[in-house]
Amino acid sequence: MSQHYQHDVLVIGSGAAGLTLALTLPEHLRIGVLSKGNLANGSTFWAQGGVAAVLDDTDTVESHVEDTLNSGAGLCREDAVRFTVEHSREAIQWLIEQGVPFTRDDETAREDGGFEFHLTREGGHSHRRIIHAADATGAAIFKALLDQARARHNIELLEQRVAVDLITERKLGQSGQRCLGAYVLNRNTGEVDTYAARFVILATGGAAKVYLYTSNPDGACGDGIAMAWRAGCRVGNLEFNQFHPTCLYHPKAKSFLVTEALRGEGALLRLPNGDRFMQRFDARAELAPRDIVARAIDHEMKRLGVDCVYLDISHKDANFIKSHFPTVYERCLEFGIDITREPIPVVPAAHYTCGGVVVDQHGHTDVPGLYAIGETSFTGLHGANRMASNSLLECFVYARSAAADITAQLEQISMPGRLPTWDASQVTDSDEDVIIAHNWDELRRFMWDYVGIVRTNKRLQRAQHRVRLLLDEIDEFYSNYRVSRDLIELRNLAQVAELMIISAMQRKESRGLHYTLDYPEQLAEAKDTILQPRLGAN
Ligand code: FAD
Ligand code: SIN
Repeated sequence: MSQHYQHDVLVIGSGAAGLTLALTLPEHLRIGVLSKGNLANGSTFWAQGGVAAVLDDTDTVESHVEDTLNSGAGLCREDAVRFTVEHSREAIQWLIEQGVPFTRDDETAREDGGFEFHLTREGGHSHRRIIHAADATGAAIFKALLDQARARHNIELLEQRVAVDLITERKLGQSGQRCLGAYVLNRNTGEVDTYAARFVILATGGAAKVYLYTSNPDGACGDGIAMAWRAGCRVGNLEFNQFHPTCLYHPKAKSFLVTEALRGEGALLRLPNGDRFMQRFDARAELAPRDIVARAIDHEMKRLGVDCVYLDISHKDANFIKSHFPTVYERCLEFGIDITREPIPVVPAAHYTCGGVVVDQHGHTDVPGLYAIGETSFTGLHGANRMASNSLLECFVYARSAAADITAQLEQISMPGRLPTWDASQVTDSDEDVIIAHNWDELRRFMWDYVGIVRTNKRLQRAQHRVRLLLDEIDEFYSNYRVSRDLIELRNLAQVAELMIISAMQRKESRGLHYTLDYPEQLAEAKDTILQPRLGAN
C-alpha cells in the first residue's frame, strides 16, 4: 500500500547540492533527502579535478570573475558570477570544517598565514585556484558530507526513492501556485508514495545521459528539469551541453574521465603521429576553455578519420604523476596503459548541462516553495560554457544561499494538508519493456549524432522529428503501465531532449558550446534562451 510522509524540507537529490543544503538548515527541521539509487548515485561522487575558489593571496575575486566571464563567451550573468566567486572562500572553509581532506601543499605550507592546501590549475583559469583531494575530490567531499548527514538526527536519508512528479496547488486545481510535495516511487515496495513538505528542493543533477557517450553516471537524466517544467517553471540555455575533451577511449572503459588537472599540470594533447595540435586552435593551447579544446579534438578526429587523440603526461616525474593522479593512474593501468610511460587515448564525451531550471540567487524557481540548486539549476554563472571546477562551487554557494532563504521564511509557511494519493487504478504491468530499452538507445544515439559538438539546422530538425515520435510513444506507455525507474527516466530524458533541441533551434549563432555550421558567427548581442511552459499543457 502506498504511504504518506511529511517533512519540513524535502530534498530530492543527495549530491553536493542536496547534502550541503540539508546540513546548512537548522537542526530542529525534519529533512528528507531522497536518492533514486544509492546515496552516491550522482555525479558528485565522480568529480575528479576539484573546486575553484579564490584562496591564495596572489589571486583575486576580479580575476576569477574575469576568467569565468571569458569562458562563458559573453553569456554569463555578471551578478551571478560575482555572487558565486565572492562566496567561494567561505564555502571552502565550511567544507574544511565538515572534514573534507583536501590535499595539502608541503612546498607552500606557510607560516605567514598563506594558504596551506595545494591548488591546481585547469582550462580557462589564469591562476592556480582549484582546491582538490588528489584526483578524487568528489568522493572525498561526498564522504565527508554524508558522514555529517548520518550523524544528524533530523536528516532522513532515503535511498531507492525516485521522484516521479511534483505536487502543486495548480495541479490539484487549487487557486495558488505553491509546490506542496512530490510523488515518489519506492523501488523497494514498487509503490508510489506521497511526500508533503513545506519546501521542496530539486538537487537532481544534470542531463548528460541524453547523449550516447558521457562522463556521467547512469542517473544523470534531467529528472529535476523535466519535473520543474511540468510544474510550470521556466528553463534556460539548455542548448549549452558541455563535452569534456578527455574521456578514456577504451572498449571496456565506460564513462571514465581523465581530469583536466592533468593538462593543468603540463599534459599535452597529441595526434596519433605524436604531433601537438592545440596551439593551432588557441594561444592557450591545452589550457584553453573546454568548448575550444573539445571542438579542436572533434575537428582533428574527423579530419584524420581517427578514433581518438592522445593525452600525454609521461614527460613528468613518475612519482609526481602517481601521487597527484592516483585514480587516473590506477584506472588506466587496469586497461594496460601506464600513464607514466605512454600517452592516454582520449575522446570528448557529454559532461555537463550548463542550462537548467531558471532560478535567482536563492535558488527560487518560478513555483513558490520550489527551489532548484546544483547542476539542475540555471543561475547564469556558466553562460555559454562552464569553466572547469565552477560547478561544485555553484552547488555549495547556492545550496547555502537557499538554506538561508528557507530559514528566514520558516515562520510563514505551514505544512500542507493531506495530499491525494497517487492514482494507479488505470494502469497495469507492462508486458513489453523492450520498448523502453529501444527508445532509450534511439534517443541517446540521435542526440549524439544530431545535437552534438557540431550542429546544423537539418540535424536539429531530424532530431526534433524523432523526439516527437518518441514522446508520443512514451506518453502512451506512461498512461497505461505502472511506473518504473527506467520509464520515469526515459520520459524525463525525452522531455529534456526536446527542450534542448528547441533551445538549439532558437539560437541563430555560434557561441561557446553551441556551434552550428549554419550560423558560424557570434552575434553582437548575447541573449539567454528562456523557454516558458504552457500552463495546463502537462
Ligand atoms: P549530483 O551529484 O549529480 O546528484 C544528483 C542526485 O539527485 C543523486 O543523489 C540522484 O540519485 C538524485 N536524483 C536525480 N533524479 C532523482 C529523482 N527523480 N528522484 C530522486 N532522486 C533523484 N565539477 C567540478 O566543479 N569539479 C570537478 O572536478 C568535476 N569533475 C567531474 C567529474 C565527472 C566524472 C563528472 C560526471 C562531473 C564532474 N563535475 C565536476 C561536475 C560536478 O560533479 C557536478 O556538476 C555536481 O557534482 C552536481 O552535483 P549535484 O548535487 O547538482 O547533483
Ligand atoms: C575534471 O576534473 O576535468 C572535471 C572538472 C570539471 O568538470 O569541472
